[in-house]
Amino acid sequence: MTTDAATAVAHPNIALIKYWGKRDEEWMIPAVDSLSLTLDVFPTTTTVRLAPAGQPDRVLLDGRPAEGEIEKRVLVFLDMLRARTGRREAAVVDTRNTVPTGAGLASSASGFAALAAAGAAAFGLDAGPAALSRLARRGSVSAARSIFGGWAICHAGSGSGAEADLGSFAEPIAAPDFDPALVIVVLNAGPKAVSSRAGMRRTTETSPLYRAWADAGRADLAEMRTALARADLDQVGEIAERNALGMHATMLAARPAVRYLSAATLTVLDAVLALRAAGTSAYATMDAGPNVKILCSRTDAALVADEMRAAAPGCRVLTAHRGPGVRLEAVR
Ligand code: PMV
Repeated sequence: MTTDAATAVAHPNIALIKYWGKRDEEWMIPAVDSLSLTLDVFPTTTTVRLAPAGQPDRVLLDGRPAEGEIEKRVLVFLDMLRARTGRREAAVVDTRNTVPTGAGLASSASGFAALAAAGAAAFGLDAGPAALSRLARRGSVSAARSIFGGWAICHAGSGSGAEADLGSFAEPIAAPDFDPALVIVVLNAGPKAVSSRAGMRRTTETSPLYRAWADAGRADLAEMRTALARADLDQVGEIAERNALGMHATMLAARPAVRYLSAATLTVLDAVLALRAAGTSAYATMDAGPNVKILCSRTDAALVADEMRAAAPGCRVLTAHRGPGVRLEAVR
């Protein structure tokens, strides 16, 4: 029997300073700070409906029972909500994604941000934005940033365990004059072969390049904040591109290598370089998948999209902009 339900909508975000690697897996504490833009495309809508204690939890993804790792992560999240609130009810989680799940298109960011907001409301947890961001982080670190609209920075904090939990959350950063476009080139929307969780674990444990990238990331972040405040597209783009390529270099040096970039990814990267050589400010970033997101001005977005369609025939291209933070839609 239904006792209580809440629905929330969240959007994915794309990091321009990447998070890769955890300091504490149990508490989901990132090893590095990150900075991202929440988008206005691919929302996730999640309803959490409480059910009588003793019933099994149920997880539905796009109307079908979720399986494997996805189901497990949601069940762990529900256990955490019960532990935090002292409540015993079971829950039915109904999630609708408009983004392909697990394809490096940030479905876990929008998914766990929506689950955190809907779950907190359904279980009666009174959480302000920072607390909600910490909660979302327990599902997926990138989800901590999708609590907020526009630009957000996620702090790695210090220490480990419960102490680190308090210091690791996202918060919005002001960049009122910087409102670029992000052209998303979807080369393969299928689920990735190596989950980001497994990929980052292998990278931090075995890649001799990981520490150097993490150290460089601190300087990247400081420079990025200045470039954002100045609304300097070329500077923001240069820093974002080198930070992303550096992250993929750490993975390529892992043993065995973790490689998300495909031949088509490199073709698109060549097309981005060609655009720049021809005078268009366009910069690429890639996550745990082959797809490429290209930062450019709003006025250049149509040109960039056309060039990418020509470079990688058959790919799907769409243009995103700054989007909203998580929104609680209905509480019953
Ligand atoms: O939080 P996860 O498990 O979705 O990891 C995301 C990691 C990257 O997308 C590659 C980088 C980032 O900061 O979003």
